[in-house]
Amino acid sequence: MTLPPKPASRPDKVSLWRYLQLGRQDLLSAQPERLYRAWMAEFRTPFFRSYLVNQPDLVKTVLKDRPLDFPKSARISEGLRPLLGESVFLTNGAQWQRQRRIIDPAFEGGRLRETYPAMWAASQAALARLSARAGETVEIEEQTSHAAADIIFRTLFSIPIEDDLAAQVFHEFRAYQRTQPILNLAAFLPLPRWMPRFFRSDTKAAAKRIRGLITALCERRRAEIEAGTAPDDLATKIMTTADPETGETFSTEEMVDQVAIFFLAGHETSASALAWALYLVATHPDWQERLAEEAQLLGEAPDFADIAKLRLSRDVFRETLRLYPPVPMMVRETTCPERFRDREVPEGVQIVLSPWHQHRHARLLDNPDGFDPGRWGTENGRSCAREAYMPFSAGARVCTGAGFAMVEGVLMLSLILRDLKLTALPEKTPEPVAFLTVRARDGIHLRVERR
Ligand code: HEM
Repeated sequence: MTLPPKPASRPDKVSLWRYLQLGRQDLLSAQPERLYRAWMAEFRTPFFRSYLVNQPDLVKTVLKDRPLDFPKSARISEGLRPLLGESVFLTNGAQWQRQRRIIDPAFEGGRLRETYPAMWAASQAALARLSARAGETVEIEEQTSHAAADIIFRTLFSIPIEDDLAAQVFHEFRAYQRTQPILNLAAFLPLPRWMPRFFRSDTKAAAKRIRGLITALCERRRAEIEAGTAPDDLATKIMTTADPETGETFSTEEMVDQVAIFFLAGHETSASALAWALYLVATHPDWQERLAEEAQLLGEAPDFADIAKLRLSRDVFRETLRLYPPVPMMVRETTCPERFRDREVPEGVQIVLSPWHQHRHARLLDNPDGFDPGRWGTENGRSCAREAYMPFSAGARVCTGAGFAMVEGVLMLSLILRDLKLTALPEKTPEPVAFLTVRARDGIHLRVERR
């Protein structure tokens, strides 16, 4: 069985200039092979010092045990601030804690059940779009982006993507992402600290347009809440939840910041994961058939209890998030000197946590580059799930949408495979590259047929 595509690593030693060039092309192939075996690696350049950490207990120290000592790196915030403002993804300390106190209740288990009919409706719409292309070769990432964006609008604002404002936000986001892959990488690359501040003017303009559209959505909702006519969806829940400690609710401006990140974090990531999942089942027909059969358990109407029954689909989705974690790396900063693996790690340096490398670590996993959804039932798979698996990060800053994403991904995968059969084209093997999320350089092309 051929292994799922993995980018070639760079030679161990390259010049700073070459590293920069490689990083501009793709973050993953800019890294050396040794990171798939290392517990920790240091990168030192004139501008930059960082430590990539794979060792499970050190990752736990940073993410779970002492998260407040390792805040988000300012380098990331600089690049994304024009779009995301003071969103929960970028803030630190007391401001971040307050935001999570208001946001988290909207994503609790019970709310997920209430969100399910909207997810179901968006999934049916996605299936209808794909079914209409039966007999053709389809670029799948475009389809999954559309579907994931639709899910966000329906669950957050109770509007489908065909709504005029929603459609405009979606199109502007696509334009925005095309203008600025390098800015996302600024956090990881050895650029001088001032570099990310030089935003391209079209990037700034696109961010402003997106924020203008989201402001219109939030103001419309604010008026509906005041008039008592607002639908009971995620936006209403978040805008009416008071911080249990201070009693304050979000201002419209703060809500715009949060909606921008829900949209960005919630649709790019889910779209990437679903596209890779569909590619992996297309190249593993045995698993595709098993999922198609399991999908018969789904009824014709939305029933949240069905999701728990879709075990194989969940194993495939988890395995996809292992091989192609949509967020391949995360960056934190030290706030005091640390001692990691008997090495001094100074204050103010970057700590890189890499789901991409940890999930394929040769010393932690059996068959690290192979597609094996059955692994989750094995001893090694269980220890990997505990110690070497963080597609949604971990600890206090864990992804707020993790539960949401696991329902959405598993449902979409099953619904699509219940009706459609997918085949990969050998001449179009996708090449994984990391910009904002892990995507295929030239898209993922699959042949779609009705079952
Ligand atoms: C497969 C889908 C998804 C993946 C793999 C994913 C992954 C992640 C990861 C790794 C982080 C931590 C980033 C870091 O610490 O630098 C994160 C944070 C976040 N995600 Fe997700 N995410 C997904 C879907 C979603 C969805 C559907 C939503 C919301 C609707 C969402 C909202 C957020 C937010 C608000 C944060 C910031 C949390 C904080 O910093 O406190 N994500 N996500």
